[in-house]
Amino acid sequence: TGLTAIVPAAGIGSRMGADCPKQYLQLAGQTILEHSLALLLSHPAITQVIVALAPHDGWFDALPVAADPRILRVEGGSERAYSVLNALHVASGDWVLVHDAARPCLCHGDLDKLIAAALTCDGAILGSRVRDTMKRTDEQGNIVATVEREQLWHALTPQMFPTAPLRRALEEGLALGATITDEASAMERAGYPVRMVEGRADNIKVTRPEDLSLAGLFLDQQNG
Ligand code: C5P
Repeated sequence: TGLTAIVPAAGIGSRMGADCPKQYLQLAGQTILEHSLALLLSHPAITQVIVALAPHDGWFDALPVAADPRILRVEGGSERAYSVLNALHVASGDWVLVHDAARPCLCHGDLDKLIAAALTCDGAILGSRVRDTMKRTDEQGNIVATVEREQLWHALTPQMFPTAPLRRALEEGLALGATITDEASAMERAGYPVRMVEGRADNIKVTRPEDLSLAGLFLDQQNG
C-alpha cells in the first residue's frame, strides 16, 4: 500500500515579514508550497498528501495543485503539532511521512534514503550535521560551555513514522504540555527509537527573507 505524506502548511511565517504566509511566496515561478507538494506527489511511493491549512487560508484554492485528487485538506491548529495531529486523524495507511511546507528543496534521493531507513528501523528522520563550533550560554549571553559537535544534528523533514504510534505520541505529548517542534521529539519522549538519516544540507526551511534567494539557488543547482 502507498505512503501518506502530511504537509503542515498552516503557519503564518511571522519571521518572514511578508504580506502572505511564507509557503505562498514565489520561488522560481511557483509558490514554496507547490515546490514541496510537487516533489512529494512525483514520488512513486506516495499515494496521498494531506495538507493542513490555516482556517481562513485564502491562497491554496488558487493553486493548480489544489485540484489534484491525491490531495486531502484539513484545518491546521494553533501550533505545528496540532496541524499534524489534525492530518493524522484522517490519514489512512500504516505509515506517514511529515514534511514542512516551507522546505521546497527536498530531493527524491533523500526521500528514498529516509523511506528505506524508516521501514527497517521503525521510524526515521532526515538530518544534517552541524558544521560550526557549538556553544551553550547563560541568560546573560556568557558562554558556559563548548558543546561536542560530533553527535549534534539539525533535524530536518520529512520525518517518517508508523501512523498510530505517532498519533498517540503527539496526543500524549501535547496533553502533558510538552514543547513539540517535530514528530521525532514526540516519539522520543514516548520511548520509541528514532534513526537519524544524513540528508542534504540544502533541504533548508525558508524562515527569514534571505532564505528565499538561497532556496532559489539550491533549486537551480539541483536542476542544473
Ligand atoms: O514556523 P515553522 O517554520 O516552524 O513552521 C514549520 C511548518 O509548520 C511550516 O510549513 C508551517 O506552515 C507549519 N505550521 C503549521 N501550523 C502552525 C504553525 C506552523 O502547519 N500552527
